[in-house]
Amino acid sequence: MKTPYIWKNGEFIAWDDALDHNITHSLHYGSWVFEWIRFYPTEDGPKIFRLKEHIQRLFYSASCMQMEIPFTEEEIINATIELVEKSGVESGYIRPIAYFGYGKMWLNPTWAPVEVAISAWAWWKYLSEDPINVKIPSIRRIDPQTIPMGAKICGNYANSILASLEIKNGGYDEWLLLDTQWFIAEWPGENVFFVRWKKVYTPTLWTILPWITRNTIIKLFKDKFDIDVKETRINPKQLWDFDEAFFVWTAAEVTPIWTITDEFLNKIEYDSWDKNSYTQKIKKIYDDVVKWKDKDYLDWLA
Ligand SMILES: Cc1ncc(COP(=O)(O)O)c(C=O)c1O
Repeated sequence: MKTPYIWKNGEFIAWDDALDHNITHSLHYGSWVFEWIRFYPTEDGPKIFRLKEHIQRLFYSASCMQMEIPFTEEEIINATIELVEKSGVESGYIRPIAYFGYGKMWLNPTWAPVEVAISAWAWWKYLSEDPINVKIPSIRRIDPQTIPMGAKICGNYANSILASLEIKNGGYDEWLLLDTQWFIAEWPGENVFFVRWKKVYTPTLWTILPWITRNTIIKLFKDKFDIDVKETRINPKQLWDFDEAFFVWTAAEVTPIWTITDEFLNKIEYDSWDKNSYTQKIKKIYDDVVKWKDKDYLDWLA
């Protein structure tokens, strides 16, 4: 996992020197904001996928916490590109974080110093290539009336961790959360899509983290199949009407779902599934785009 450098507050420092004090505001109250970004091997060396959009979301998340990042978006983008170059790694993950630092222990972080750090490392694929089994846990997704859902604020992930602990021993690979009004929301780290009779559906932005992979997949369905993905509220009782389902997320890309809470969802014959399902087709298209085998999306690579 270890790479030579971490970028911290404007400097490249050794990986082992990137330490923080116990009395760090965000460590106590979950007020950090962060991003997950991936870089891929291409014929032109490692390229970072949708870096600009990820850094825009980092700044948006910080603004939701009234945190003023003491660098511009461009400075963070350039630092990230340089860090990947220095990492010596062809393909991996990037984790920028911004947080309220040492010395201020009131809940209200005003006057706490804002620290920024970026790490990059090689990592295994987050989920398997094979279709996964998913459970709907009893815990509900956090509610937009209580916290900004479109921000990657670390405290939001306590909800995700509790859901993951709930399914830990049940033989499931992942979990799919309902919102507080019992509609399908998302996996705590991924957005979800469903297919039925050549139409594609995804939950509305109400109770999900929007943007990057979801937005990429919506555009690719339009460009490659002329399909307008329908953003709608999905009742869990409708689930069994769908022919296919898949999760999308920067870290895990496109991951097919095989069963939801023990019910078999995929209605395409297993033998032809690889060839005939939209899930497999869009997975392959996404893979070509991020690795720059499809030359139409150069704007998305840095
Ligand atoms: C709660 C949540 N939903 C969805 C996603 C997928 O977002 P993206 O496609 O931007 O990685 C993430 C990823 O970070 C997430 O944390």
